[in-house]
Amino acid sequence: MERWAPGSWREFPIEQTPVYRDPAALAEVENQIAGFPPLVFAGEARNLKRHLADVAAGKAFLLQGGDCAETFNEHSADNIRDFFRVFLQMSVVMTFAAGSPVVKLGRIAGQFAKPRSSSIEKQGDVELPSYRGDIINDIDFTETSRQPDPQRQLFAYRQSAATLNLIRAFAAGGFANLENAHRWMLGFVKNSPQSERYQKLADQITETLGFMRAIGLDPEHHPELRQTEFYTSHEALLLSYEQALTRIDSTSGDYYATSGHMLWIGDRTRQENGAHVEFMRGIRNPIGLKCGPSLTPDGLMRLIDALSPENEPGRLTLICRFGADKISDALPALLRTVSREGRSVVWSCDPMHGNTVSAGGYKTRPFDRIMSEIRNFFDAHQAEGTYAGGIHLEMTGKDVTECMGGARAISEEDLRARYDTYCDPRLNAEQSIEVAFLVAELLKAERLARGVAEQQAAE
Ligand code: PEP
Ligand code: CO
Repeated sequence: MERWAPGSWREFPIEQTPVYRDPAALAEVENQIAGFPPLVFAGEARNLKRHLADVAAGKAFLLQGGDCAETFNEHSADNIRDFFRVFLQMSVVMTFAAGSPVVKLGRIAGQFAKPRSSSIEKQGDVELPSYRGDIINDIDFTETSRQPDPQRQLFAYRQSAATLNLIRAFAAGGFANLENAHRWMLGFVKNSPQSERYQKLADQITETLGFMRAIGLDPEHHPELRQTEFYTSHEALLLSYEQALTRIDSTSGDYYATSGHMLWIGDRTRQENGAHVEFMRGIRNPIGLKCGPSLTPDGLMRLIDALSPENEPGRLTLICRFGADKISDALPALLRTVSREGRSVVWSCDPMHGNTVSAGGYKTRPFDRIMSEIRNFFDAHQAEGTYAGGIHLEMTGKDVTECMGGARAISEEDLRARYDTYCDPRLNAEQSIEVAFLVAELLKAERLARGVAEQQAAE
C-alpha cells in the first residue's frame, strides 16, 4: 500500500470542494477541530463493522436513512425524536415481519455537506455559488450567504455532538424499549393507510413480550429488549473537516474517522485517483461507496482493490443508486464480477438518487419508481444468487410532501404544502413505513426461497 496519512488526500485531484476566500481562517478552524473530542469511538465503529459483516454473510439486514442534508435551522429535539421513532418502527417491521436482525444506521449527526451538479446557481440574471450544505455555506440566495465560511464547520461539529447525545439517550434510555412499540405511532401516521398493518404488528409484539415474561424472560433482565444499537453515517465530502477528526485509536494503533461510525463516498467523488478515495482507503471505519450508472465492473473492481484490499467482511458497503429503469441492466454485471472475484461486500439499495424528476417546479421522486427500484434490486440478487443486504433512504419523521405518491397519493399540486427539504426530496414518515413493509415482504420471500434451496441441497 502506498504511504497514507490523514492529509495525503491533499496531493490528489479533488472534486466538489469549496474554495474558501481566507485559507488562514480555514486552517485555524481545522486546528481547533483537531483538538476537539471525537464524536464517536473506534470501538463503536468496529462493532458496526462486525454487524455489517453479518449483513455481508446474509445473516442480517441494513437499514440506513435520514435527511438528504441536515440543517442548522431544523435542529430540534422534536425532529430528532420523530426521525428516531419512525426509524424504530421501520426496523421493527423488518425484524418482526421478516425475522431478520436489522442494523440501524442513520444519515444523521454529520450529514451536512452536499455535492452539486453545478457549482453555480442562476436566478434571473444573478449567478451565485451553489448551496453546498450548511457546513459550507448558507442557502439564502445572496452574495454573502453563499460564500463558504469555515466557521460553519464549528457549528456543524457542535450540532452533531448534540444530536448524537440525544440519540444515545433515546437508544439506551428506555425510549427504544420494545414494549413501547405501540407508542411509537406518530399522531398523523395513526390515521394513515399503514396504521392498521402496523398496529397489528405492535399487537403481536405485545403478545410475544407477554409470553416471554410469562416464561420468565423479563425485559428488565434483557437489555436487548429495552435498548437498541444505533449508528451514525454521512457522506465524507468535506475532507478538511474529516481529516481534523481522524485520530489514531489507542487500542489498535489504526486511524479512524471519528465524525461518524460509517462514512461513504458519493457518486460524484469516487474517482480512482481522486482525493476522496485516497482519504477513505486509510481509515479503518466501515465505509460505503455509491455506485451509479457510470460505474463499470472493471472500475468497481479497481475501487474495491483500493478501498478493501484485505477483503475484510463488513468493511465495504456498495450503495447502488441506478434508477428504476437502469438497475436491471446495470446491476447484474456488477454482482457477477464481485462474486466471481470472491469479494465480501454488503449490497445496499439507494432507490432515491436515480429517481429524481421535476414536477410543478419541484425536485421530487415518484413513490412507484422508488418501490420499483427496490423490487428490481431484490430480483437481480435472486437471479444472481447474491444477497440483497440493505436499503438506503432519504427520509424524515415529519409529515412532509416532497415525494409524490404513496398510499396517500401525494400529487404534484400537493408538493408545495410542506416541501421543506434543503436539498433532495425525502420520504415522509408514512411513506417510509410503507417502504419498510415492502422490504419486509421481499425479505421474507428471499428467506423462504433460501430455505427451500438449502433443503434441496441437503436432500
Ligand atoms: C446523497 O446521498 O445525498 C447523494 C448526493 O447521493 P449520490 O452521491 O449517490 O448522488
Ligand atoms: Co440526496
